[in-house]
Amino acid sequence: MEVDLAEIIESYVDAHTDDLSPLLEDLLAETESITGLSRWSIGKVEGKMLQMLIKISNAKHVVEVGTFTGFSALAMAEALPEDGILTTCENSKAYADIALRYFRKSPHGKKIKLKLGPALQTLGAIPDNSQDFLFIDADKPSYSLYFDEALRILHPGGIIFVDNVFWRHKIFKKKISNENARAIAAFNEKVNRENRVEKVMLSIRDGVYLIRKK
Ligand SMILES: C[S@@+](CC[C@H](N)C(=O)[O-])C[C@H]1O[C@@H](n2cnc3c(N)ncnc32)[C@H](O)[C@@H]1O
Repeated sequence: MEVDLAEIIESYVDAHTDDLSPLLEDLLAETESITGLSRWSIGKVEGKMLQMLIKISNAKHVVEVGTFTGFSALAMAEALPEDGILTTCENSKAYADIALRYFRKSPHGKKIKLKLGPALQTLGAIPDNSQDFLFIDADKPSYSLYFDEALRILHPGGIIFVDNVFWRHKIFKKKISNENARAIAAFNEKVNRENRVEKVMLSIRDGVYLIRKK
C-alpha cells in the first residue's frame, strides 16, 4: 500500500499544535457551509504560526492583504495587545460581511479595521515606515506590488509573511503554464534577489515566505 508521507506529516503537525479559539472553528465551519471555500483560509497551523510571530515580535500595527471571511484577521487580532490595530483589505462585500459579523462576536474584533476595496488602494493610504507586520494572502499576480508596498510601509525590522509561495506545487513544473504559478515564481525570485530584506522560505502547507526588512 502506498503511504502519503505529506498527509501523515500534516496530520502529525496538526495534532501537535495548539487549537485556536472555538469562535475561529465556528467561522471556518460557517465559511465552508456558505462559500464551500474554507480551504482558502489559512487554517490552524498557519493561524497559530501567525499568532506566535506577532507575539514574539511584539507587533502592534499589522496589515493583512486578503481578508476573505476573516479567519486569519481574527486569529492575528487575538494575538495583538489591547491597543494593537490590524488593517485588513478585502474587495468582496459578500466575504467582508461574513468577516464583520464574526469580528463583532469577538472581544478582539475592535482591533480590526476592515477596508473594502482594492488592496493596493488601501495600502497606498498607509504612511511610510508605520507598520510592524504585513501578511500577504490575496490575488497572486499582485504579490510583487504588495511586496513593494510592504517595503515602504514597514519600519526597519518589520516582518512580511506570505502565503501560497508553492502555489499547489505548480511552481515546481519545468514549464509553468498556470498564470498564478508564474506570478508566484517571479515573486519568489524577486524576493530572493532583494538585498533590503532577509528571508527564509518554509515548506508548511502551500509554502510560506518569512521576510524581515533590514
Ligand atoms: C485566499 S483568500 C484570503 C484568506 C484569508 N487570509 C484567511 O486565511 O481566511 C484571498 C482573498 O483576497 C481577496 N482579494 C483578491 N484580490 C484582491 C484585491 N485586489 N484587493 C482586495 N482583496 C482581494 C479575495 O476576494 C479573497 O477573499
